[in-house]
Amino acid sequence: MIDLRIERIVGRRVWDSRGRPTVEAEVHLACGASGRGDRSFTRRYGRGDWAFAQPYGRGDWTFAQPYGRAVAPAGASRGSREAVDLRDGGDRLGGYDVQRAVANVNGAIARRLRGMPANDHAAIDTALNELDGTPNKSHLGGNAMIAVSMACAWAAANAQGVPLWSYLRSGERAGSEVVIPLPEIQIFGGGAHAGRRVDIQDFMLVAPGADSFAQALEWTAEVYLHAGKLMAQRGLLAGVADEGGYWPLFATNEEALDMLMRAIEASGLRYPDQVAISLDIAASEFYRDGCYELGLEQRRLSTDEFAAMLRGWLQRYPIVSIEDPLAEHDEDGLRRFTQMVGQGVQIIGDDYLVTNAERVRRAAAIGACNAVLVKPNQAGTLSETLAAWRAAQEVGFSAIVSARSGETEDVTIVHLAIGWGVQQLKVGSFARSERMAKWNEALRIEEHLASRARFAGAVF
Ligand code: PGA
Ligand code: ZN
Repeated sequence: MIDLRIERIVGRRVWDSRGRPTVEAEVHLACGASGRGDRSFTRRYGRGDWAFAQPYGRGDWTFAQPYGRAVAPAGASRGSREAVDLRDGGDRLGGYDVQRAVANVNGAIARRLRGMPANDHAAIDTALNELDGTPNKSHLGGNAMIAVSMACAWAAANAQGVPLWSYLRSGERAGSEVVIPLPEIQIFGGGAHAGRRVDIQDFMLVAPGADSFAQALEWTAEVYLHAGKLMAQRGLLAGVADEGGYWPLFATNEEALDMLMRAIEASGLRYPDQVAISLDIAASEFYRDGCYELGLEQRRLSTDEFAAMLRGWLQRYPIVSIEDPLAEHDEDGLRRFTQMVGQGVQIIGDDYLVTNAERVRRAAAIGACNAVLVKPNQAGTLSETLAAWRAAQEVGFSAIVSARSGETEDVTIVHLAIGWGVQQLKVGSFARSERMAKWNEALRIEEHLASRARFAGAVF
């Protein structure tokens, strides 16, 4: 038996894709402790930290190793009920430093979890919550907690020499078919990710007609390239936004939709069967005093007017999914919008549902949204993230595992989506390596599994 008890936890400050500090946690297990002295681990895998390679996993290969590591991401357009991202404040590093959260990992968390089995996620996450003792994880920091919670899963998987996605498929899902999720890929960035240059945050492409994840990426690459070329020709390209989508110089939000249509046409793809459009409105970001303020067009719209505008887009463009169409505090608007168009379109709650099982159940009960975005750091622990996904299954909501706008090379979310059987994955655009690391990881898993996995494809 491999000794999966936690021996030591190390927290450190690393840096995210916006150049801001974030929390990395490394969980070391007893099987690798004291000069790799654990006999069973050494016998099984050889000497040293890692000696035995299994084809495939994190990177090209998973090595059996007695520790796991994970990094907390960070959002820019955050729901008000998310787990608190603990920052030091003050003048240094724009107030974004995470020394307190890192100290919590190295101190209280490391002491509390020492000796616990790394694969007992319910017990670990309960212990983290008890130690935190607040309703919003503001004492330890959701960033400290999610890094540790995810690192425990990596440690347990790594020590057993299995890829994380495979480790997560234990229990009732073990024998079921593996599904590779449909990627949702940003072409233009806006909102809080592009200096509010356009109001709408994400203009994305999905490829429900692709035969494989690999083909979905290839089609998206064509559209992304064509969009960039068309924009550059018209002098509309100002660089890339926080998630790697083009930072556009459009005059209206609809110009973005028109440009996306042109890029799809230029790439020779058919819509809506091969490819279609997905939007993240992130409407909480421009909801003021009960109205939606479109800065770009200098318009101020009531809930009904804004919903009517979105409905017009749904009629004119091949849009199959729309996230946070109305603000998190405009619940009645969300409910009415879902009644109005929810039969034909996926309506995702992100800021509104904050990866919270209770909120998913409540939304389903009142008829607001029909899908949930699953972001581990909104929940703050792996167990609570899983609970939100289970709640979605119970109430018949679809789900999308999602990255944040501040990311790193960490690929945990790809493994969560595949391991848990979530059929959609949202990681940002098709540029910047904190995004590509995740797309490439899913590619490797798809290639490794070949006919043993099915591509989610047409989920809408
Ligand atoms: P965020 O954006 O990570 O900045 O919150 C992602 C999203 O809104 O989906
Ligand atoms: Zn969102």
